[in-house]
Amino acid sequence: MTATQIIIDCDPGIDDAIALLAAFVSPEFDILAITAVSGNQPVEQTVRNALQICELGGRADIPVYTGSHRPLVREAIRGQFHGNTGLGNTCLPAPIAEPEENGAVEYLVDRLGEARRTGELVTLCCLGPMTNLAMALCIDPKIADGIKRIVMMGGAYREPGNRTMTTEYNMLTDPHAAHVVFSSGIPIVALPLDATHQVILTPDHVKKFEAASGRISASVADLMAFWDRNQVERYGSRGGPLHDPLVIAWLLAPRLFKTKRARIFIEHESELCMGQTVADWYGSSGLAPNAEIVTQVDAAGVIDLFLDRFSRYNPDIAA
Ligand code: BDR
Ligand code: CA
Repeated sequence: MTATQIIIDCDPGIDDAIALLAAFVSPEFDILAITAVSGNQPVEQTVRNALQICELGGRADIPVYTGSHRPLVREAIRGQFHGNTGLGNTCLPAPIAEPEENGAVEYLVDRLGEARRTGELVTLCCLGPMTNLAMALCIDPKIADGIKRIVMMGGAYREPGNRTMTTEYNMLTDPHAAHVVFSSGIPIVALPLDATHQVILTPDHVKKFEAASGRISASVADLMAFWDRNQVERYGSRGGPLHDPLVIAWLLAPRLFKTKRARIFIEHESELCMGQTVADWYGSSGLAPNAEIVTQVDAAGVIDLFLDRFSRYNPDIAA
C-alpha cells in the first residue's frame, strides 16, 4: 500500500483534534505537515493546540506550521462550542515541540511547488477557514497542479447555516479565501453541514470511545463530552456533529459516502448571505462542476471506522 501524502490545514478546535487523532493512527496516510490557521481561536492558540494534540497522539514528528493571523478581508470570527482554549476542558501538558520557523503559506508554496515538479501530488485536508491555501494560490497559482484534490469541511446547501441563517462557520469566517479556492480548478470533495449533521456523536458513542481509546481515553472523553450540544430539535438526538473528522473518514472509506457533482459558488458580497455556498445542481450556470458534494453518509459505518482507529491507541485491543 502506498500511503496518501496529506497536509492537514486546520484550526483546532475540538472536532479538528478528533480528526487529527484519527489520522495519526491511520497508516493509509503519510502526514507531511499540519498547517494551522486563525479560526476557532487565534492562530497562536491553534498552533499550540495542534502541537499538544500531536504530542498526545504520539506524533510529535509531524511538523506544525503557523498560518495566517486573520482572514483575507474580513475581521476574524471565533468558533463557538470549543471552550476558552479551543480544546474544551481538556487539560494537556504544555507542548515540548515548537512550530516550524517558516510560515504555513511559505511551506504550502514550496511543498506544493515541489509536488508539481515531481508529479507526486499531495492531498489537502481543509478543516478550517481556507485562508492559508488561498494565500498560497495567490502567491503562486501554479501550485494548483501539485494538489491531487482538496477534501474540505465547510458550507451548507440544503441545510441552513450554523453561524448565520445561510452560512456555515468556515465559509463565513473567510468567504474570500473560499472563493479563491473554489475558483482554482483544483478537484474538491466538499463535506457540508448536509453531511456532517448526519453523524451525531451521542453520549452513548462517547462512552464507547472512552472505553476503546486506551492511553488517550481520558483526553478523548474530555474532548468528546464537551462537544455535546444538546440541540435535539436541530440534530434529532443529543450530541454534536462530527464535522471535521468526516474529511478523514471520506479519505479512509469513500464507500461510506454518496456524492453529487455540482458547481459551487461562494457568496462574498452580500452581508445577509455572506459566505453562503450555492450549488448549481442542474447546470443552470452553464459552468462545469468544480466539486463532489457529499449528500449522504453511512453514520453507523463512520462511527465504527473511528472506534476502530481510536482503539489503536489501546494496546489491549490493537492487534
Ligand atoms: C466547522 O466550524 C468549526 O467550529 C469546526 O471546527 C468545523 O470546522 C463546522 O462548521
Ligand atoms: Ca475546524
